[in-house]
Order: sequence, then structure tokens, then C-alpha cells
Amino acid sequence: MTNTEFQSRLLNWYDQNKRSMPWRDCGDPYKIWLSEIMLQQTRVDQATPYFERFVDHYPSVNALAEADQQDVLKVWEGLGYYSRARNLHAAAQLVVDDFDGRVPDSWDDITKLKGVGPYTASAVLSIAFQKKYAVVDGNVIRVLSRYHGIDEDVRSTKTKNGIQEHADELISEERPGDFNQALMELGATICTPSNPDCGSCPLQDGCVAYKTARTEELPYKSKK
Ligand code: ADE
Repeated sequence: MTNTEFQSRLLNWYDQNKRSMPWRDCGDPYKIWLSEIMLQQTRVDQATPYFERFVDHYPSVNALAEADQQDVLKVWEGLGYYSRARNLHAAAQLVVDDFDGRVPDSWDDITKLKGVGPYTASAVLSIAFQKKYAVVDGNVIRVLSRYHGIDEDVRSTKTKNGIQEHADELISEERPGDFNQALMELGATICTPSNPDCGSCPLQDGCVAYKTARTEELPYKSKK
């Protein structure tokens, strides 16, 4: 399958099957950033009510920047990993002080924000600003290691870098944010860790793991 076919099949599938999420298609960089911070350690269905509550309290970067840290932690309560909330609060203040209250749209600036590493930077820049940065999380690693039949340990940096390179090559020029979300969505709903629903997968035709009946063995993780 060519990269163009991969993109069009994946994006068509996404257009027809994507779950509705309150931050999806909202176009608000602040909400997209907040959602990606929450989704780092929390599943979509768990994070959603917390997201709604947080946005009710702090509907904008400015509102968050002006808030008291103790209050922010209180609203975060239940989600855990409280350093995420502290970093987000400090980052909102930096956005107001140094970036005129606008979430930065460049790699160099957005990675200055506390709590924004390569994963979050790629997610926000692609989803909020249509920049061509490929996201690689656990879901994407599973989809691409099966699709390409990668049988090296996915815990190794070398393998992860290889998967990042595959993702960088595949990502759609026109719809990078949707492409990233589509791969994550496919991993979360179809290409699941066990019993993947290959019959419903838009990428089945090109999938090495499917063709060689190795979906249960991939992604390969060596014993620690
Ligand atoms: N996991 C992390 N970010 C996500 C997103 N934007 N959509 C679905 N799952 C995600």
C-alpha cells in the first residue's frame, strides 16, 4: 500500500468512526493542550468528565494563569499525577507573560512550556495548528509495529526511533492532526492489545502482522 493509500484509508475510516470528544474539532489550542496533558496518563473515558470540569472552572489560558495553585490542584483532584497540574498552571502563566496569552505554534516555543515534551508538542502543533509532526504513543507503536511487522523490542530506543521515522514518513501533509488522532483512535478501538478486530481495520490489506498471523505476538516486548 502506498503512503497516499494508507492516509486516505485511515482518514476515511476516522471520518466515519471517530468518537466524539469535547476537545475534538474545537479548534481551541488551550483545550487541545489541556486534553493532551490529561491523556498522557489517563484514558479518554476517564479524562472526559475532568476535562469538562476543568474547562468550566478555567475556560481560557488567562483564567488558568490568574488562578490560585491550590484551587487548580483542587479541580485536578482525582486525576492523579499532580505535577501535571502544577506544570500546566506555571505554563499558562508563561503563555500569558511571554506569548501574549496565545499557546505557541512553533516547536521551539511550545517546548519551553513546563510539561510539554516531544509527545505533547507534536500533538498540540498538529491538532491545533495543522503542523506536520507525527505523534508516537503506545497506541501508535502497536499499530505501526504490527503494520510493518517490526519484531524488535519496542522498549528499545532504537526501535522507537524507527517507529517515529515510519510515522514521520506516513503522516498526511493536508491533515496531520487528524492523521495522528486517527492512528491513536485505531489503536484504541480496533488494533487493541488482544483480540484486535482486523476485519474492521482499514489497513488490513497492508498489515504484515495480519498477513503472517502475528497480531498477538506484536508489538514484541522482551522479558525485562
Ligand atoms: N490520546 C492522546 N491524545 C489523543 C487524542 N487526541 N485522541 C484520542 N486519543 C488520544
